[in-house]
Amino acid sequence: MTTDVQTFETKSLCPLDSREALIDEVWSGLCKRPRSLVPWMLYDCEGSRLFECITTLPEYYPTRTERDIVANHAGAILAASGSDYSRPLRLLELGAGTAAKTGILLEAATRSRSQVTYFPIDVSSDALAAACESIGCLLPDVQLEPVVANYVTDPPRLEPFQGTTLAMYIGSSIGNFSPEEARTILRNLRAELRRGDALLLGTDMVKDEATLVRAYDDGEGVTAAFNLNILHRLNRELGANFDTGCFRHRARWNAAESRIEMHLESACDQTVNIPAAQLTLQFAAFETIHTENSYKFTTETLGALLDDAGFAIEQTWTDPQQWYALTLAGLR
Ligand code: AVI
Repeated sequence: MTTDVQTFETKSLCPLDSREALIDEVWSGLCKRPRSLVPWMLYDCEGSRLFECITTLPEYYPTRTERDIVANHAGAILAASGSDYSRPLRLLELGAGTAAKTGILLEAATRSRSQVTYFPIDVSSDALAAACESIGCLLPDVQLEPVVANYVTDPPRLEPFQGTTLAMYIGSSIGNFSPEEARTILRNLRAELRRGDALLLGTDMVKDEATLVRAYDDGEGVTAAFNLNILHRLNRELGANFDTGCFRHRARWNAAESRIEMHLESACDQTVNIPAAQLTLQFAAFETIHTENSYKFTTETLGALLDDAGFAIEQTWTDPQQWYALTLAGLR
């Protein structure tokens, strides 16, 4: 039996020299106080694997909550994002990853639209290949145009399209950027869209502190391993000698900034060498490295962000506890 599987060509816009980039980040983040590292460093192969494990943890509600919202409202989301069903639909996805949830929307799209194109953008070529293979198998009629790119440093450029574009930025990835960065990402996206196009944005909402902290400090220690992997990565790739047993994972709710922060706290006074960066660092006991922010939104802060970026909210779908929001916005 043969299966009609689509072939696709992946464009690459980010020949990243990750070693050079790591050395730059180590210098700029670890030589200042308070120390910090940038969150993209969490996602090497092992970090991406650990993140996939996080998404299945009982404490980590965002992924399953968003998936349920997409599954419950896929038809309504598509109907609201372009009422002329005779026009082709282009689904652009920023940070597509493995596109698990997008498949549900694409499936619904193929039922109502004659022509559907999926245009995923991600820094990980492996994740994109996996996403396109699975979408290509399940939905052979969807045209695939994957692009490997860093959508923060290289904002997407959209070719003219005779149809409707739905830009998707789900998975609450927008929450890993500062409010200024988030606004810039959305403004750059807005600049590429035309009247009639829309944005579908997934955001995690403010809720009680205990639920938030548990989601980033699970009982099995998977999030701790994910956070500590940043030090393992520096050991692997830059020959550093971090003793990862001497750093503790910390997750804190910063109410003033409306964000969960991940830190690595030194358990004792210690010295670390990073030969590839020609650095020797002294850590005092309890000193921390800030590794990630995960901003949580309210209806007001979400509305203000979209408004600032040139979007107007059209419809919001949420879960019964209102823990997570999927927002469809048109151009203002
Ligand atoms: C990818 N991102 C949306 C996750 C989050 O919830 O901020 C990353 C994460 N960090 C720890 N757990 C999950």
